[in-house]
Amino acid sequence: MTGPVVCTTVAQLREEIGARVTRGARTVGLFPTMGALHDGHARIAQRTRAENDLAVVSVFVNPLQFGPGEDFESYPRDLDGDVARLAEVGVDLVFAPSVEQMYPDGTPVVSVTSGRAGSILEGATRPGHFDGALTVVNKLFTIAAPGPAAELRAYFGEKDAQQLLLMQRMVRDFDYPVEIRAVPIVRSEQGLALSSRNQYLSAEQADHALVLHRTLRALAAGELTLERARSAIDAEPEVRLDYFVTVDPGDLSLVEPGPGTLALVAAWVGPTRLIDNMRI
Ligand code: PAJ
Repeated sequence: MTGPVVCTTVAQLREEIGARVTRGARTVGLFPTMGALHDGHARIAQRTRAENDLAVVSVFVNPLQFGPGEDFESYPRDLDGDVARLAEVGVDLVFAPSVEQMYPDGTPVVSVTSGRAGSILEGATRPGHFDGALTVVNKLFTIAAPGPAAELRAYFGEKDAQQLLLMQRMVRDFDYPVEIRAVPIVRSEQGLALSSRNQYLSAEQADHALVLHRTLRALAAGELTLERARSAIDAEPEVRLDYFVTVDPGDLSLVEPGPGTLALVAAWVGPTRLIDNMRI
């Protein structure tokens, strides 16, 4: 099995995509990641592989979406491990640029802003986070654009529900010729939503973190009110609630829990911030 071609420059990725489109690829699947790939990422990579002629995965820890005091420096990085995983999936191209390659002039002068939808919930605790994520994905869409001969599909996980909604908005608001495809949350056997940040949890903390999924399920089953779900989280040792809300999945406006609404939770487990969500 030959592994993916690893491109480290914009020019190289464009050339590889261009060559494959010339040779007949009609669909290009792009899966943006920050690496430290786990089984949740692998599931999305598999779909990207299965549904497209050309499967491209980007691995880039994007400094723009980390705030001061967040874990940009310590964020787990393992490009060799990631490439090996993506080789198993049969991905064609890996785009792994340096920070200098993506931002040669430092912080970009022109960037994407997400307004109110990006400043609530995750954005309230992480100011600028979504503007940074949208800006890098905006670049990735442009860099990976295959031209009129092929379609571009971009894959995002439902685990980051607010991010997914904002990506869908960006495509609509900017008329990008990109189709967003959403992939359901992948969980551990116990129910913990897989995340690169789960590596920061001790075994006990990972146990305590299960309260997120437990309360989401109980809320979705009508066994808990939002109020009780919130107190259940706060009652768990080492877990501190940030928010537990139900929203309209179309625009993330706050609504009462009910069929079709989306329950969103964020909490710190020790020093690690985790998010999870579930459709009711
Ligand atoms: P990252 O955290 O690496 O996640 C990459 C993609 O994998 C995201 O779309 C995320 O929702 C999805 N994902 C992660 N864990 C998942 C799980 N357990 N189940 C389903 N999907 C999961 O999100 C980012 O990177 C960045 O913000 C990025 C979009 C790459 C921009 O820098």
